[in-house]
Amino acid sequence: MIDKGIVIPIASDHGGFAMKEFLIDKLKEEGFSVKDFGAFSEESVDYPDMIHPLAKAINDGIYPLGIMMCGSGNGAQMTANKYKGVRAGLCWTVEQAELIRLHNNANIISIPGRFIVFDVALEMVQVFLNTEFEGGRHNIRIEKISKTL
Ligand code: RB5
Repeated sequence: MIDKGIVIPIASDHGGFAMKEFLIDKLKEEGFSVKDFGAFSEESVDYPDMIHPLAKAINDGIYPLGIMMCGSGNGAQMTANKYKGVRAGLCWTVEQAELIRLHNNANIISIPGRFIVFDVALEMVQVFLNTEFEGGRHNIRIEKISKTL
């Protein structure tokens, strides 16, 4: 089980705003502290403006694991994965949320805020936060990700 003393950073654009608010409430109910990087309303914004600060904070080692969403989850994931120390995985099932930790040692989960029901997103987040990286053969694979040709 993850230490409830850690702070969980979370970010979205307008497309993920409603889901972000839902998840913040649930995480707080579970005893976590949350750092909210915005967005702070459903007014249209550009997802990189919220995702870059979250991804940088993960990259800098300020938080171990982060949560983010945009409408599709794709723009957020593409932005966050620009950082060398970030492995952001796009998930739309609970099993995928488990696999990005077990196999990919993902440190950010990217959720499609407009395509997943909120209760599934919550379950995905709980599994993401409570699953450990398997290591072993997956370490070698992860090391190869940044070795572009
Ligand atoms: C916003 O309309 C939408 O483009 C954004 O939330 C996201 O899906 C981008 O990848």
